[in-house]
Amino acid sequence: MSTSPSIPSFKLLDGTSIPWLAWGNGSGQAKKAAVEAGQQALAAGIRHIDTAQIYGTEEATGHVVSGSPLPKDDIYVTSKLSNLANGQPVPLDQVRASVAESVRKLGFVPDLFLVHNPFVAPPGELKALWKILEELKDEGKLKSIGVSNFRVQDFEAILDDAKYKPVVNQESCILPHLLVIDSGDSTLKIEYHPYTLTHLQPVLELQAKHGIVTEAYGPLTPVLRHVTGGPLKTVLERIAERLSKATGKSVDLATVLLLWTRAQGAVAVTSSGNAERIKLLAEVSQLPDLLEASEVEDITRVGKTVHFRYYTEHMEIDFPLPNLPNGL
Ligand SMILES: NC(=O)c1ccc[n+]([C@@H]2O[C@H](COP(=O)([O-])OP(=O)(O)OC[C@H]3O[C@@H](n4cnc5c(N)ncnc54)[C@H](OP(=O)(O)O)[C@@H]3O)[C@@H](O)[C@H]2O)c1
Repeated sequence: MSTSPSIPSFKLLDGTSIPWLAWGNGSGQAKKAAVEAGQQALAAGIRHIDTAQIYGTEEATGHVVSGSPLPKDDIYVTSKLSNLANGQPVPLDQVRASVAESVRKLGFVPDLFLVHNPFVAPPGELKALWKILEELKDEGKLKSIGVSNFRVQDFEAILDDAKYKPVVNQESCILPHLLVIDSGDSTLKIEYHPYTLTHLQPVLELQAKHGIVTEAYGPLTPVLRHVTGGPLKTVLERIAERLSKATGKSVDLATVLLLWTRAQGAVAVTSSGNAERIKLLAEVSQLPDLLEASEVEDITRVGKTVHFRYYTEHMEIDFPLPNLPNGL
C-alpha cells in the first residue's frame, strides 16, 4: 500500500502505514448509498474506506475500488469480522470461511482486518479466534490484523504469547485524551493524559504500552450527538473562528475535532453521504497541522470534564464507568 503523499499517515506495529482519516460506510447516508457515496469519496481524494461484514457494504466497497481509476494500492481498505446476523458469536470453525467470504465480496484482501468486538468470539474463545487470524496472516490470506471495541480484559486475553499484537483498536473515542508522539524513531511512543473519559484510560494506557494505534470512530459525536454540545462547544467555536481568519476559509467545528484527533496520533474514522461534506472531509484529510499546541490542550482539558458516549453497546459492558457529569 503506497498512500498518497499528501495524506498524512501513521505507522503501525507491523511496519505498514495507515491514512489518518477514514471514510466509513457503516453509518447514515453513506451506508444507504455506499456505492455512490464511495465513488464520491474516492473522486474527492479520500484514500481510506472503512467497512465491515455487518454493514452489508463489503460488496459495494469492492465495486467502488474496482471501478476506480486509482490502483488498488492507493486505496486503504479496512473490514471487520462481525457477529452473525442474529448477533450471535461466530463459531470458530466458521471463521476461515467468514474471512474468505469477506475477501470474495471485496475482491481483494483488505489492508486491515479487525475483530469487530470481543463478543464476536464465542465465550472464552477470544484467544483461539485471534490465533486463527494470526494463521491467516501467516498464510497470506490476511494483511494487517487488529481489533475494535476491546477493553483491557480482551487485550489481556489475547496478548499473552500472541505472535502478532493487534495493530489498532477501533473504539468510540469521542472525548479527548492526549497522546504525545515521540518521532525519534520509527515506533510510536505514546504518552497518555487522562481526560473525562476516565473510562478509557486503562485501555489507552495498555495500547500505549504495546504501541497499538487508536482508531476513533464517532469522532464528531461532541458536535453532532451531544444535545447542547457541552462545554467543548465554545472552545471549538473559538478555535474554528481563529482558523477561519487565519486560512481565509470557513473552518467548521467538525474540522477542528478531526484535526484534534490526528494531533493525538489517532486515526479518525468518520463518514458522510453528503457530496459537499465528503469533499470537505477529503480536504481535511490533506490539511497540515493547523492547531496550536495550546488549542489541542484546551480541547483535551475541557473534554476531561464530561463523560458522554453515544455507542454504548460494547465498551460499557463489564468496564466500570467514571463518576462524571454528561455535560447536558
Ligand atoms: N468499530 C465499530 O464498532 C464502529 C462503530 C460505529 C462506527 N464505526 C465506523 O465509523 C464510521 C463513522 O462513524 P460515525 O458516523 O459515528 O462518525 P462521525 O464522524 O461521528 O459522524 C459521521 C456523521 O457526521 C456527519 N458529518 C460529516 N462531516 C460533517 C461536517 N463537516 N459537519 C457536520 N456533520 C458532518 C455525516 O452526516 P452526513 O452524511 O449528513 O454528511 C455523518 O453521518 C462508520 O461509518 C463506521 O465505518 C465503527
